[in-house]
Amino acid sequence: MGILEPVSVEPSLSSLPELGTTFERRLRSLLQSDVEFIQLIEDDLVTAGGKRIRPRLALLASRALGGVPHEMELALAVELLHSATLLHDDLVDDAETRRGREAAFRKYGNAVSVLSGDYLLSRVLFLLAETGRIELVHLFAEAARQLAEGEVLQFQAAAYQEYSEAQYLRIIESKTAALMRAATEGAALLAEAPEPMRAALADFGREYGLAFQMRDDYLDLMGSADLLGKPVGGDVREGKVTLITLWLLREEPDGVGDVLLRRGAGEGDVDYLRELAQRTGVAARVVEAIGKRVQAAVKALAALPPSEARTSLEGLALAELERLQ
Ligand code: IPE
Ligand code: IPE
Ligand code: MG
Ligand code: MG
Repeated sequence: MGILEPVSVEPSLSSLPELGTTFERRLRSLLQSDVEFIQLIEDDLVTAGGKRIRPRLALLASRALGGVPHEMELALAVELLHSATLLHDDLVDDAETRRGREAAFRKYGNAVSVLSGDYLLSRVLFLLAETGRIELVHLFAEAARQLAEGEVLQFQAAAYQEYSEAQYLRIIESKTAALMRAATEGAALLAEAPEPMRAALADFGREYGLAFQMRDDYLDLMGSADLLGKPVGGDVREGKVTLITLWLLREEPDGVGDVLLRRGAGEGDVDYLRELAQRTGVAARVVEAIGKRVQAAVKALAALPPSEARTSLEGLALAELERLQ
């Protein structure tokens, strides 16, 4: 691909041990509820797994600034807001599984799933209040606004069949990158870091978030079912246009358009798109586009003093290029 060579990133918690201890313990205690249905669903989703990428971003950003007060509240708030969106997202996407388990709404029903997502949001508000920092509340209010807008915009784009690269970028910036940015910029805000450092961490979170969602979307079509833990081509079946299908549309408008508009694409349709993406070089170009975002994320970090935490942030970004081809 020639932009940045993928590196091996150690995924263990060794550089951030509190992510495995204090973080998990506090997460569990924040989710105690006398209401059995809430306890069940939160235990199932939140404490069952997840890569904890957003709290890792928050804690690493904090460490890159020398450690900041209330870093743990920030890390918990960002993971809980993320988890709330997953409860809602799986319902609206009619997803089969989440974090290797049956999606919550399938087990507990739509009502309990949506309302438990709201319960998670109440814990986010509590955590933000605990920091006593009104600017952090503003930052999260903005991230949550963007998240909700992005999720709705995605459905609006599908309803109007309004597809463009600009539209795609707006959607992924809103639904994914805004929260990643809140994680890293939140640390700078809590640290009262100078403006250039705050801007650097905000840029890193945003670019990393864009690369992250672009990779997720790429693998949804080009990945293997084994790696994804679900069948490939989910986005195509749902009529969701992502960067790769957008570029494929330009290659073979009739064939690709037919698959996307028809919905409920079969295995043969997905194979056709995968083969076309390889043959035309569209797959390689999407990987290159992800590489550019990763490169921008890494570049943003230059404004921070060198540290182990900064190197770990860089490693997280570079890991987005692993196993893509
Ligand atoms: C899933 O995010 C939602 C997307 C933005 C693609 P993650 O892949 O970080 O989900 P968990 O937290 O590890 O389950
Ligand atoms: C990510 O969107 C979910 C949010 C950012 C809320 P997707 O719907 O594309 O993610 P997955 O594939 O369900 O994880
Ligand atoms: Mg989804
Ligand atoms: Mg979705």
